[in-house]
Amino acid sequence: MTIRWYPGHMSKALEQISELVRKIDVIIEVLDARLPYSSSNHLLEQVRRNKPCIKVLNKNDLADPMVTKAWVQHFQRSSGVRALPLSAKNIPEVKNLVKLVKQLAPNRGNPGYPIRTMVVGIPNVGKSTLINTLAGRNIAKVGDRPAVTLRPLWPVMNDQGGAYRLATSGAIGANALDYTNVGTFAAAYMMRRYPDLLKERYKLAEVPQGPHDVVEAVGRCLGCLMSGGVVDVHRAAETFLRELRAGKAGRISFEEPDTPADIEAELLKMAGIEVQAQTQPEPEQPE
Ligand code: G4P
Repeated sequence: MTIRWYPGHMSKALEQISELVRKIDVIIEVLDARLPYSSSNHLLEQVRRNKPCIKVLNKNDLADPMVTKAWVQHFQRSSGVRALPLSAKNIPEVKNLVKLVKQLAPNRGNPGYPIRTMVVGIPNVGKSTLINTLAGRNIAKVGDRPAVTLRPLWPVMNDQGGAYRLATSGAIGANALDYTNVGTFAAAYMMRRYPDLLKERYKLAEVPQGPHDVVEAVGRCLGCLMSGGVVDVHRAAETFLRELRAGKAGRISFEEPDTPADIEAELLKMAGIEVQAQTQPEPEQPE
């Protein structure tokens, strides 16, 4: 099942960012620590103009610490890029971000020369929350659905894997996804990566055979039942996703290829598929 999901206004957003970057000292790119690759927009690199960039891996309180560590190391290899895992609601952690911004703009931050930053990221990664914590008051709207802070900056997304990962994290709005499919995708992922968390949270003696069985077992455990004791699969999948997103099963990262090498391999695989598709002869049209 293909997720029908279209990045909105992306070129317009990039155009705006490209303009703004001239007047900016430090770019703060907010990523979701649970999926740092799928939640980043790789085109940002093209409009960055060598400006220092801090990749904030937000929602670190929900992410798998080992996966986050690998990504921080990976990002810090790029010139001019620093990576900082944090939770936007955690004031001391956000203070570390302020320190880092000051380090990266040593010639500013004096009277008359304020440090100018720009906060960018896809919807729902926590930009508004971060801005509010930085400001010490509510100046940006925090929403339960993906909301627009300035303009949405979606990643270029050719792969369904990435779209499903974003959907699992809640970054893609509810109207673009089918809960049962995404819940089943998340179940398959949990079976492979975090079987123990699955067993513990849903009181399972063993991990069930397949992802559909997992969704059923979760539904039974959480009481998502219809008359006759039949599991309401749609409700079970929706509740399962809500639980995973809220960290109820533990700290989870949603990207299966969780190392840079894995990501490269996935990209090559995708490129291979595209090349193959391009070299297929056009089907002959009937006269
Ligand atoms: P956005 O501007 O990038 O669109 O994101 P926003 O700040 O609106 O945050 C989206 C959701 O993510 C909000 O939850 C927010 O509370 C949550 N969030 C942001 N940063 C963190 C974090 O570091 N850790 C955790 N666990 N959650 C975070 P919500 O349920 O939609 O809203 P609310 O009920 O919390 O107000």
